[in-house]
Amino acid sequence: MKKGLLFGLLAAVVAFGAGAYFGRSTKQDVVISSSTSGASYGGGFKAAGDAAEALKTAAASGALKSVAGPAPTNVVVVKNGESIQAAVKAAPAGTIIRVMPGTYHETVYIDKDDIRIIGVIEEGRRAMLDGQKKLNDAILYSGNNFVAENLEIRNYKGNGIMGQAGNNFEIRNNVIADAGVYGIFPQLGQNGIVEHNVVSGIADAAIYIGMSDNIHVAHNDVFDSVAGIEIENSRHCIVEHNYVHNNSGGLLAFVTPGLPIKTTIDVILRNNFVVGNNHANFGAPGSTVAGIPAGTGVLVMAADDVVIEGNIISDNKVAGIIITDHANAANITVDPESEPNSDRVSILDNVMLRNGYDTIKEVKALMLTEGKRGGALDIVRVGPSPGSCIINRHQYVTAGLGDFAECAFTNTAATSTYLLPPVPPRVIKPDERGKVVFLGICSGCHIYNGRMIGPPVQVIQALYLDNPQGIADYIAKPVKKRPDYPEMPPQDYLDPQTRLAVAKYMLDVKN
Ligand code: HEC
Repeated sequence: MKKGLLFGLLAAVVAFGAGAYFGRSTKQDVVISSSTSGASYGGGFKAAGDAAEALKTAAASGALKSVAGPAPTNVVVVKNGESIQAAVKAAPAGTIIRVMPGTYHETVYIDKDDIRIIGVIEEGRRAMLDGQKKLNDAILYSGNNFVAENLEIRNYKGNGIMGQAGNNFEIRNNVIADAGVYGIFPQLGQNGIVEHNVVSGIADAAIYIGMSDNIHVAHNDVFDSVAGIEIENSRHCIVEHNYVHNNSGGLLAFVTPGLPIKTTIDVILRNNFVVGNNHANFGAPGSTVAGIPAGTGVLVMAADDVVIEGNIISDNKVAGIIITDHANAANITVDPESEPNSDRVSILDNVMLRNGYDTIKEVKALMLTEGKRGGALDIVRVGPSPGSCIINRHQYVTAGLGDFAECAFTNTAATSTYLLPPVPPRVIKPDERGKVVFLGICSGCHIYNGRMIGPPVQVIQALYLDNPQGIADYIAKPVKKRPDYPEMPPQDYLDPQTRLAVAKYMLDVKN
């Protein structure tokens, strides 16, 4: 998530107030569309060959329930007092690791395929991974076909469950609280389900889909975090039936500039409850999320082909939906390779109530230029969003939506899922290792030319010029250097060769 959004928004609406939108107060004719009949969104994922057939079958039979590869052939049980990590180490591919209720103080790394870690719940008691605010991460997986279920995760400093380039994952029925910067964070994966999790008290994004494809995020309860559910630099994602409440910002679909994968395309946000996301923003001061205006229901920034349908969006004090672009978000260093606008946003029928009741004053000024009194605001758009559309616009209080056309479709019923039957595992060739580790791990905190959790890659390149070994050594055992940044978590679980490979990649990366 980017910092400075608030300031960007302010600057942008001032510009609007003074400029293009001045005087647009004429009432438009009421056009009424039925969202239960008429054309349906065909979806934006064009699968090829077998996958296309499979997707058709999946769509016809309702959503896919499982994506995680071959059925397990082996079961081991971990009891209270034993080590989950030791069980993972010993497990052959195809193992279910059942974890009995109890408290486990550890970080679990899964770097092989076909492992399922499934907690056993007894009379409400779960297997709890407790980082005691000392450990960074609860679960880090890089294997394909990974499943994490029924766990409880608390008191970590970095991530609850983080995926680093594994395909075909299922993360479900977990309770994750106060787990640090990201709650559930699959990064660089294809074909994944994140469902029925309860995630709260996260200082950045509770559920963060990063640089991934074909993802289904459903039935999660996400609250008391800075960002609720974030779809970032990812494609073909459906976010549905989630309860997203009391975060600073609820549902977010955007492009973070400076990451190696440059687009967010084709995201359906539907049938969610996005309610009262007014939590004071407690993102680390100066951190990238600290700029979300507390009171944002849905935020779309530079993401293309986002459909917003069937949500109940209420009681978000700044606005129900904010649509913006990179150029208007100050402090975001525009990435020449990222297209900065939110193209083709489609707003279908949503129930929107009591939003924008305490919005920022510059938004009120924008509304005044459109002859609106303020005191309520459902949808505000700043910056270009070519090709965008809306149906039944008369039902919402809007600002800056003057050029939105009528949508050519009224519902997304034709697109039930983007999940695929298990896709081939991601196989990482030795010479790609540095790149994949960088994309999967480092870019969660370091972007090229801006501040994320850690300092910009450009700054690191200047510091370490011809010294990849220096980086490799630092990341094994980081020392605190900058008073205004958090500590960097050690990457000592990577072997020395991998550390050197990622260091070299970091020094070479161009944007
Ligand atoms: C969870 C967030 C996070 C992740 C993941 C992360 N870093 Fe960092 N990194 C930081 C923070 C925060 C700092 C600043 C620490 C400080 O100045 O005290 C930092 C600083 C650095 C520095 C600067 C060291 C110096 O001498 O100033 C290097 C080099 C670095 N990281 C490399 C990496 C590499 C390579 C990876 C991936 C293997 C990585 N980081 C993953 C957060 C992260």
